[in-house]
Amino acid sequence: MSERETWATRTGFIFAAVGSAVGLGNIWRFPFAVGEGGGAAFLLVYLLFIAIIGFPAILVEFVIGRRTNLNPVGALQSLATGPWRYIGYLFLATGFAIMAYYSVVAGWFVRYFVIGITDGYTVADPDSAAALFGSVSTGMDALLYHIVFMAAVIGVVAVGIRDGIEKAVKFMVPAIIILLVVLAAYGATLSGAGEAYAYYLSPDFGVIAAEWQTLLPLAAGQAFFTLSLGMGVMITYASYLGEDRNLVKDALTIIGFDTGIAVLVGFAVFPIIITGAGVEAAGEETVNAVFVSLAAAFSDITGGRILGLLFFGTVALAALSSAISILEVVVSYIIDQFDVDRRPATAVAGSGIFLLGIPVTQDLIFLDLLDGFVNDFLLVLGALLLVLLVGWVIPDAGRDELAKGITDIGKRGDIWLWLVRIPLVVVLVVTLALGIEGYHEFLTGPFSEWLAS
Ligand code: PHE
Repeated sequence: MSERETWATRTGFIFAAVGSAVGLGNIWRFPFAVGEGGGAAFLLVYLLFIAIIGFPAILVEFVIGRRTNLNPVGALQSLATGPWRYIGYLFLATGFAIMAYYSVVAGWFVRYFVIGITDGYTVADPDSAAALFGSVSTGMDALLYHIVFMAAVIGVVAVGIRDGIEKAVKFMVPAIIILLVVLAAYGATLSGAGEAYAYYLSPDFGVIAAEWQTLLPLAAGQAFFTLSLGMGVMITYASYLGEDRNLVKDALTIIGFDTGIAVLVGFAVFPIIITGAGVEAAGEETVNAVFVSLAAAFSDITGGRILGLLFFGTVALAALSSAISILEVVVSYIIDQFDVDRRPATAVAGSGIFLLGIPVTQDLIFLDLLDGFVNDFLLVLGALLLVLLVGWVIPDAGRDELAKGITDIGKRGDIWLWLVRIPLVVVLVVTLALGIEGYHEFLTGPFSEWLAS
């Protein structure tokens, strides 16, 4: 345990947790999830899920972490008995799967940053912007930037996390917010802005009713992914916390930043996409959405090169602080369990993840394969098991822990517990069933077509 650090300042935990939460999930994944989910219909379900499942679920991880002061594997072994003791291993597998593709996508952002330095953005029309994305996202370049990004993550985690994360996040979060506000203001001046706001903000309840089977797992998976839930990150970060912290307040702060930034991304991206290519395009955008639309915008506006540089660079940093948190879960486990030093532990875990990411750099189908597996299945399963454990198996431990640091918790501890026990479990079970079905369709549909071709 001596290798583990504690937060340097009282705000260190908040910064690190926000740094973990705010990342590619907000800036890259959110816009294409909105596209897949039909715009405002998705946004509404997503916001609802953040409130009714994200909020109680983040508290579940906080209480486990602070109660045990251990890495997720150790935490569950010490808190639980029987099969519950092995949930931590699922988190390690999830961490591996996320990091493998996360690094590849983060590498694309690094590459777009570099393009800003060397050539500037000269792809004002959507077709050339799409062509640029094609050349960045697969092949040698993608592999090269996967190496660069992974090396950076390994470097930071090998040295230790405290100073790096706290300092980076202090600068990064305000920078992202300012840049997104600038982009949203630019978006508001475009001719497609009105149509974009309607698409993004006025939900069609008919769509929600007709499409709930797709919307539910999509929005729940996104809610867990963006809040770094379901794989032990928040357990790990809360394990370094003192008992005087008010966990509820901290959760609200973290969720506020994360959700605010995601919503802001929509205001930046959709006016640009819809002005450039019409409203149907917003639904067709996939993993390329932000890259194509924003590179086109940066080609068009005065000062776009500087703005673009700043934007892609900051997102790469945001991705770094999230990636660090994922690798840290795996590394803290290896250190504790096998009693090895931080450096070799990081090198071994990092190399394994790097290898798993290589296929993703060669064909985007592997991105769907991993991303779907993580978001439709692994994160939801991880969250469900934790929620069942804390809600039903060890409720008193959870409630006691939550009460620490809160002056007068009153009935709120019980309300939380009942939210965890019933609504959360129901939503997670339904989501898991639908997610498995959806993923199965992907495997038997697009993926087997790809295999056959
Ligand atoms: N929350 C991060 C993001 O939105 C991703 C992440 C998922 C980080 C799971 C840690 C654990 O980019």
